[in-house]
Amino acid sequence: MHPDIRHITPLDRLLSIIDHGLKASTRGTTGASPAGRAMPTADGAGPGPAVGTPASRHSAGLMRVNHAGEVAAQALYHGQALVARDPEVRAFMLAAAREEDDHLKWCAERLRALGSRPSVLDPVWYAGSLALGALAGLGGDAVSLGFITETERQVEGHLDEHLARLPAEDAPSRAVLEQMRSDEIAHGANARSRGAAALPAPIRWLMRLTAKLMTASAYWI
Ligand SMILES: [Fe+2]
Ligand SMILES: [Fe+2]
Repeated sequence: MHPDIRHITPLDRLLSIIDHGLKASTRGTTGASPAGRAMPTADGAGPGPAVGTPASRHSAGLMRVNHAGEVAAQALYHGQALVARDPEVRAFMLAAAREEDDHLKWCAERLRALGSRPSVLDPVWYAGSLALGALAGLGGDAVSLGFITETERQVEGHLDEHLARLPAEDAPSRAVLEQMRSDEIAHGANARSRGAAALPAPIRWLMRLTAKLMTASAYWI
């Protein structure tokens, strides 16, 4: 059969996702590819804290957490898309994952400007989140969409906290986080409009705990 008319099998999807995951979780250490959307910028603001200052180290810690979060966000969407039943739901998940990829690249670019690097644990977050996303997806599309609304709601809260903690002079990172926040709100609203189911409280609690573990470690390593 001609390769152009060959159907995309679940194995093809898995292999393409693994390839993407390797690139996403090592990006910043192997060199980033160009972002889909240009990085948001703060008009008239300075370049952010100078490398080597306490402010730049604090900003880098926060942006490393956000970078790890974007690796995980992408992996969750990839895992969920892998097992999604409805092709339209899968297309929505893959489109959202591409936006998370923009976020990932913007965070990587800020880390470089701050003289720092992504978390060494990024491949671990990718692999764990891919499995978690697939597990959530196996519960059916409504549960999977519910998982997205809950994840994005928690990410929105997390970004609010980081916007408050970011050094005042780091306007470039602030512009990135603000655009990310508005994209995450849109992802959650989109999932909700597609019929997301409410998740049981223990699962929501477990999701918060996992996120805490990641944010606590990625700030430092
Ligand atoms: Fe994101
Ligand atoms: Fe998102």
